[in-house]
Amino acid sequence: MTNATSIPVLALDGPSGSGKGTIARAVADRLGWHMLDSGAIYRAVGHAAGVRDVDLSDAETMARLAAETRIEFLDPGDGGDARVFVDGVDATDAIRTETAGAAASAIAALPAVRKALLDKQLAFRKSPGLVADGRDMGTVVFPDAPFKVFLTASPAERAERRYKQLKAKGLDVTLTSLLHEIEVRDARDASRAVAPLRPAGDAVVIDTTGQPIPAVVAQVLAVVRKARS
Ligand code: C5P
Repeated sequence: MTNATSIPVLALDGPSGSGKGTIARAVADRLGWHMLDSGAIYRAVGHAAGVRDVDLSDAETMARLAAETRIEFLDPGDGGDARVFVDGVDATDAIRTETAGAAASAIAALPAVRKALLDKQLAFRKSPGLVADGRDMGTVVFPDAPFKVFLTASPAERAERRYKQLKAKGLDVTLTSLLHEIEVRDARDASRAVAPLRPAGDAVVIDTTGQPIPAVVAQVLAVVRKARS
């Protein structure tokens, strides 16, 4: 059996709207590696709590829900984003709403929930490699990852990217409210006691403000190549 820790991981962390999702997918495609969208896992649990009407601040019940919720990623086979099933039901669109994002951020502050979700995330480490997208991939989940990148971008640019994404999906949002939500979520993610959002000491920090996607993909691939040589 392959020792999981010998399987390479690229930990790609950063705040929402830093371009992580897009960059992670492009880099995983280029390397032919698996992909973990850890934010989708937190969102799926937040969504499951909404469906079951569980109080998000009830740490014990939330941790149980986090451990019990079945979360599956299904490749649509057309090069598009994975579809996300929560307890067997397609929740791909439901987990992308701002409500699900806010619920994810609230439960992500609960240490028992983070602990309950650890094994689910570690299970994604499969040969030939993994690109892990999140907030604490390089600091907590895969601290031994040989490649670590932390992506940032200005709050204004991140709000604008999110605005375009959500508008393209036909959702009714305003730029001002998105900027406000991003700032609130950033502050909560960065100040929580457990696994706060911060670059790992050994991460390469890349500011993506004003940079086109291919340029960032090239810089991330260069980090992998440099660390390998
Ligand atoms: O990346 P995404 O916006 O989908 O993540 C939703 C929320 O889940 C984040 O705001 C954050 O609070 C939480 N999260 C986390 N740790 C991760 C991934 C996401 O705390 N590794």
